[in-house]
Amino acid sequence: MSTDAPGRAVDQGAGAVQPPAHVAVIMDGNGRWAAQRGLPRAEGHRRGVEALRRAIRAAGDLGVRYLTVYSFSSENWSRPQDEVSDLMNLLRLFVRRDLAELRKAGVRVRVIGERAGLPADIAALLEEAESTTRANTALTLVVAFNYGGRQEIAAAARAIARDVAAGRLDPEAVDVEAVARRLHAPDLPDPDLVIRTSGEQRISNFLLWQSAYAEYVFLPIHWPDFDRAAFEGALESFQARQRRFGGRGERAGA
Ligand code: IPE
Ligand code: IPE
Ligand code: MG
Repeated sequence: MSTDAPGRAVDQGAGAVQPPAHVAVIMDGNGRWAAQRGLPRAEGHRRGVEALRRAIRAAGDLGVRYLTVYSFSSENWSRPQDEVSDLMNLLRLFVRRDLAELRKAGVRVRVIGERAGLPADIAALLEEAESTTRANTALTLVVAFNYGGRQEIAAAARAIARDVAAGRLDPEAVDVEAVARRLHAPDLPDPDLVIRTSGEQRISNFLLWQSAYAEYVFLPIHWPDFDRAAFEGALESFQARQRRFGGRGERAGA
């Protein structure tokens, strides 16, 4: 916060630290959070949605432009059916209850993941969330739902194969850009920072292509406990990193 007290430096303009443009979050640990409290897993997921609301607000306040949240993976279908159905119901509830507020807050919703095979009402809700927020520009919330990084890359490979087979694409022209253009949301910038809660240190099939040069921050807390302070802490860790992208970095003398 800046202050106009005499003699105090005001942190703004050229000296201000830029937040990462795109933060992606693996929201993990709902089940363990609940188990530690003797509560059903469903309660952990419900509290996880509250943490998601906090994260969206904090992202906007902290100047993050894109927030991607991993809400259901391609592999999460392997969970017991009652848990899968709890998670589907929470998504339904989230879109129905929160969409109006997101729209008012200027949040644009995008969805990545495989739509085919989703329950029809869920596919319709996702479509509604995207279409009714299309003109918003404050924060882009990217919901990764029924998402798998390998599946996304495989789908891009299929699209390339179709184009080659149809004579629309020269195999020699298949480069990094050709793949990137065929991902689910090719216009989004790559994530700068990937946060995972719950202490697990793995990617679990999240944004495999896009996070090639992301910075990772692993937090020991479970997702339902994620709050603004945790978000700010992760951004501070990010600011302390030196990104090189394979080069030699920009630090003097490096
Ligand atoms: C994250 O919490 C939510 C989803 C994966 C949908 P988990 O349900 O994975 O919680 P843990 O990892 O079992 O504690
Ligand atoms: C990753 O968490 C998926 C989401 C957060 C939606 P998981 O809990 O499914 O990942 P693993 O199984 O521990 O790797
Ligand atoms: Mg988990």
